[in-house]
Amino acid sequence: MKLASVRLPIVTIDGPAGAGKSTAARWLAYTIQFKLIDTGALYRSLALMAMEKNVAFDDEFKLAELCKNLNVQFGNLELPVYPDKDAIPQVKIFCNSIDVTESIRSPEMGMAASNVSKLPAVREALLQLQRDFGAQGGIVMEGRDIGTVIFPEAEVKFYLEASVESRASRRQLELKQAGVELSYEQILKETKARDDQDMNRKIAPLKKASDAIVIDSTSKSFDDVVTLMASKVRDYIRKN
Ligand code: DC
Repeated sequence: MKLASVRLPIVTIDGPAGAGKSTAARWLAYTIQFKLIDTGALYRSLALMAMEKNVAFDDEFKLAELCKNLNVQFGNLELPVYPDKDAIPQVKIFCNSIDVTESIRSPEMGMAASNVSKLPAVREALLQLQRDFGAQGGIVMEGRDIGTVIFPEAEVKFYLEASVESRASRRQLELKQAGVELSYEQILKETKARDDQDMNRKIAPLKKASDAIVIDSTSKSFDDVVTLMASKVRDYIRKN
């Protein structure tokens, strides 16, 4: 007897910086036991590598060359050993075997990642890498263009948004928890600048896929967002 092979869906989560994608994606992947791929970490790792090798963030040719040696690996999602009420599943990120989990998270690396991500040769170089990560299905992949460019055929797509003010407040809290103190005004300005850059770049700008399920997290708890997402994925699996 031949067993039917079950291919689990590709789940995409796109949306602007600070809408809660990362937290929602981690909880969703943890809840449904899918692998998590944070594509922003690829652009951040590239930016970090460029900084260490003194390559300018607008040197398209050299950055595309660096992509050839970019080997990013994601660990499994794990809850902290003694989780407090705000703990979220953690994932280790390695770039060329070096643990970059913390070092890629600074606001500077966020903006640098946004800068390198504008360049067509960089996006082209990272496209296949992202498709390879997801080819088997059973993944939650979060980013800006996953449901539109990387996996336009993905089975379940989400677009997570929130007001710019609430995104800035959330970012401030996250940074504070990581020991970085920045004023709300400064973060609001940076969030608006990053939105502008991510939404208005020429290639693969952040936009909603026409078949994405849009969730506004401004006045929703993460629990509600994740419960809604998990139920949509389970509905899909049940029906297919
Ligand atoms: O999600 P993040 O903040 O870690 O992403 C950092 C930057 O990388 C973001 O400002 C834009 C870019 N990015 C992108 O262009 N496409 C993606 N799929 C993911 C991130």
